[in-house]
Amino acid sequence: MMYLSNNKILITGGSSGIGLELAIQLLKRNNNVLICGRNLQRLQAAKQQNPRLEIFQCDLAIPEDCDRLVYWIQENHSDLNVLINNAAIVHTSSFLEDQFALEKAQLEFQVNFLAPLRLIKKLASTLHQHITPTIINITTGLVYAPRADYSYYNATKAALHSFTQVLRIQLKKRNFRIIEVLMPAVNTPWHKGNPPKIAISTEKAVAMMLKEVSAGKTEIKVGKVKLLHFISRISPGFALKKINSLHKA
Ligand SMILES: NC(=O)c1ccc[n+]([C@@H]2O[C@H](COP(=O)([O-])OP(=O)(O)OC[C@H]3O[C@@H](n4cnc5c(N)ncnc54)[C@H](OP(=O)(O)O)[C@@H]3O)[C@@H](O)[C@H]2O)c1
Repeated sequence: MMYLSNNKILITGGSSGIGLELAIQLLKRNNNVLICGRNLQRLQAAKQQNPRLEIFQCDLAIPEDCDRLVYWIQENHSDLNVLINNAAIVHTSSFLEDQFALEKAQLEFQVNFLAPLRLIKKLASTLHQHITPTIINITTGLVYAPRADYSYYNATKAALHSFTQVLRIQLKKRNFRIIEVLMPAVNTPWHKGNPPKIAISTEKAVAMMLKEVSAGKTEIKVGKVKLLHFISRISPGFALKKINSLHKA
């Protein structure tokens, strides 16, 4: 069981959307929460609203920046016991028509898949020194049925979903708690002002997530993801059609 209080928590991408709301909710029960992101102004704005936040500017697409973040934690926050891999990016494009398709695919895999692996690998021993060492990976219902205008994003998250299952088995005897949170559509800056109609608020998404975390669940399907998972098992073709009908341009 991950207790929701008295932890030292790092949330990657905690300056916006789901990560910021998580930081706000978790600050109510924890002394301080660490967040990182690329944009310093956004980090500073989050800190101004929530002074107990600790901020660190870095670009998780750059391996050396991941190392800088790890070093900062080890030097200043070695009591870290919870890592939340939340930062992610997406490009909407048509694979064959986009001349920068491969660069975009590579960038998405760096941020959405390889950065979480780097942070887990390099922070595991720090997390493990404390009670309830916990790793939370944020993924999406789209691991069950991909959205066609997200050429690479679905695949990066499906990779993280698969890896999280592997990690949970490999670390079973080592006292780690490995949690995956599969989010539904949530109304955040992610959607650039055009969220799908079914999107729920960050407050609701985070409240549902934390309720299940505190209940001891390890694979948390938030809101409609439960239904999508069920449909994708009994009728994968219908699930695919349904997802893509929600996201017509
Ligand atoms: N919103 C949805 O409908 C939805 C649905 C399912 C799953 N999710 C997942 O939920 C998580 C949060 O999404 P969100 O909707 O809250 O997105 P968001 O509002 O766009 O926030 C993304 C956060 O990640 C940070 N970030 C992005 N690239 C980064 C990089 N290279 N290095 C460091 N930080 C980086 C951003 O800060 P900077 O831009 O300043 O770097 C920002 O703080 C993601 O994992 C996403 O896949 C979202």
